[in-house]
Amino acid sequence: MKRMSLLQVTEVSYSYNFKMPLKSKNRSENVLQDISFSIEEGSCLGLLGTSGAGKSTLGKVILGIQRPQQGQVLFQGHDIYNADKMTKRKWRRNLQAVFQDSYSSVNPRMTAESIISEPLENYEKLTLTEKRKAVIFLLERVGLSEKDLKKYPHQFSGGQLQRINIARAIALKPMLIVLDESVSSLDRVTQSLILELLNELKADFGLSYLFITHDIKAAFSISDHLGVLEKGELIECYDSKAQFFESKHPAVKRMRDSILAEHPRHRSLTV
Ligand SMILES: Nc1ncnc2c1ncn2[C@@H]1O[C@H](COP(=O)(O)OP(=O)(O)OP(=O)(O)O)[C@@H](O)[C@H]1O
Ligand SMILES: [Mg+2]
Repeated sequence: MKRMSLLQVTEVSYSYNFKMPLKSKNRSENVLQDISFSIEEGSCLGLLGTSGAGKSTLGKVILGIQRPQQGQVLFQGHDIYNADKMTKRKWRRNLQAVFQDSYSSVNPRMTAESIISEPLENYEKLTLTEKRKAVIFLLERVGLSEKDLKKYPHQFSGGQLQRINIARAIALKPMLIVLDESVSSLDRVTQSLILELLNELKADFGLSYLFITHDIKAAFSISDHLGVLEKGELIECYDSKAQFFESKHPAVKRMRDSILAEHPRHRSLTV
């Protein structure tokens, strides 16, 4: 018998319904079409796609924010949209997210300490001392320190603030983190440092990731499996980078050419 996947997405379709001005009928646009894939415990699925492909929409469907009109999202075997209260609480705790914009993900009036301890307050009964200790551990774990406890978001760089967001996301030792363009606003050097951190955390805590990005290099450096989303369809999935490079799909070729063309050493390979 096949082992149960941590996350199982089955035939999911999603459309944003919106009212057309002066018309009584709602128009709906299918943004996700019949999407199926799974993520195993401890592994990272890189979801690649160009802008507007539906990546963030899929992220929100998985996070329980946008209920799909069709299909199912199973987390640890439970349908997240039809779960009882207890199960819901459990998957909410085990399923975290880090988004692209580190500043808008935090409350500007809260200190790093209160940002990171928020999930602990919601889910765990800790004394003040225990909570402080946990937050310091988390800060250090993401490359910051006790000195940062009382700082406000505007006192951090974008990269540091993304580390705070990561600390908050791992505070409850979740099973899966949805990373939606989490490193995309950062410069290349900071990007690779954060990717390194994410790789370490994945190994140390046995985390699984859904790594959403338009950046092939970033996806390659962290993913165990890759999928390409194009116009709402998951057109291909790969178990290795080699498979991605061998793909004959025109959309995948276009993506590939765009990174190869970026580097002079690779330019000749594009012809
Ligand atoms: N709230 C919304 N209402 C209506 N349409 C939406 C909404 N959010 C997204 N869309 C549409 O859904 C499609 C997919 O958007 P989505 O944000 O999921 O793409 P994406 O792959 O994340 O793009 P990007 O790489 O630019 O973040 C787009 O055509 C977009 O215009
Ligand atoms: Mg997006």
